[in-house]
Amino acid sequence: MTSSRKPDKTDSHALFLASIGQLLTLQSASGKPGPRRGPDLKELGIIENGAVLCLGGKIVSVGTTKDALRDPWLKKNRKKVTEIDCANKVVLPGFVDSHTHPVFVSPRLVDFEKRIEGASYEEIAAAGGGIQSSLEGVRKAGKRVLVEKVLAVLHDMAAHGTTTVEAKSGYGLTVESELKSLEAICDAASQWPGTVISTLLGAHVVPKEFQGCSQKYVEAVCKEMIPQAAKRKLAQFVDVFCDQGAFTAAETEQIFEAAEQHGLGVRAHMCQLAETVLRPFLRFNPASFDHMDHVNQDDIAQLARHDTVATLVPGTNYFLGLKEYPRARRLIDAGVPVALATDYNPGTSPTLSMPMAMSLASTHMKMSPAEAIAAATINGAWALRVADRKGTIEAGKDADLAVFAVEDYREIPYWFGANRCLMTVMSGAVAYPQ
Ligand code: NIG
Ligand code: FE
Repeated sequence: MTSSRKPDKTDSHALFLASIGQLLTLQSASGKPGPRRGPDLKELGIIENGAVLCLGGKIVSVGTTKDALRDPWLKKNRKKVTEIDCANKVVLPGFVDSHTHPVFVSPRLVDFEKRIEGASYEEIAAAGGGIQSSLEGVRKAGKRVLVEKVLAVLHDMAAHGTTTVEAKSGYGLTVESELKSLEAICDAASQWPGTVISTLLGAHVVPKEFQGCSQKYVEAVCKEMIPQAAKRKLAQFVDVFCDQGAFTAAETEQIFEAAEQHGLGVRAHMCQLAETVLRPFLRFNPASFDHMDHVNQDDIAQLARHDTVATLVPGTNYFLGLKEYPRARRLIDAGVPVALATDYNPGTSPTLSMPMAMSLASTHMKMSPAEAIAAATINGAWALRVADRKGTIEAGKDADLAVFAVEDYREIPYWFGANRCLMTVMSGAVAYPQ
């Protein structure tokens, strides 16, 4: 067992997971710094018959069960420790879902039916459906309703193995309702044992009342939403939907500049509907570019030299019934760091299941199960800039773990549509089942 510190007798909340069939530590085999790329993406650092000891919310030791049972501290304190026999199941780091939009009121069932009848996402949006049709619900809702919605989905995510979630605003699109949405995220986060990273997505689309004068709306984002969100510490990141029918590259740069001035990190929905040249944005050191369905070869070469993560969200391609998926192989083989996320939202991806996103990544984007797992854990952590404390099972990191009722990790993306998560541990305590 490798230990970061020896626990002393005053430590409480000791949790010991033993007899783990496959313990996926995700510890880096190459020792290279930064997000996992190329061949390193499939290194899971598996320990067979593994054990993990957690104390005070942190992982303190990781190794084989045999070695753990020889540990003098554990021998002496065994009675005080909550012990879980994992009965040969798989344990991995809790998933890091680095792209979600949980602050909405209603599902978009009319859009769903229109698409089934043949209309495209863009056609529905141009006719007043899409994101615009989710605004009224959020604008009218009291904060308590939004908090309940967000909290319910966070609990559901935990039941599917997710322990860290990025949550965006973006369905209010007025200063007041965007700040209310961020407050709802923060309130829900304070009632959930996992970790939430909040993002201001005031630049989701130009709301109807600003159509024809998008610059005025961009100014409201830059001069009101961003400064207030930063001042009140309601968001860590600013996101922009930079695409056809949303914001232009120039508007995106303007918004990124405001974010930078106010000390917020940046990320963007990029290249979902049409290609955007990414190179000019790299000076802002974006944490991630998300979707990435239409990326050019020059930008791929640039991204291979940066730590900006390409976050792929295949749930959207699935739910929109698209034939094409982001070309993960092209990105991974070129050395671009790739993460996977659900993109949980009412319009394009109403799934909160990371195993489902991983299954789609394997079947439609030809990512191996091992690559999908690393993309859903350590690279998600890089995409949120929390890789120093999340995404791997190693001494010193937060004790965020998921136990799956499978004997081989490849079964996680294999059993699609079923939830095989048995238990989720957050900060060293069992959070699911409650
Ligand atoms: O990530 N593309 C922009 N935003 C969401 C969709 C939002 C919606 O349709 O409600 C996405 O796909
Ligand atoms: Fe999204």
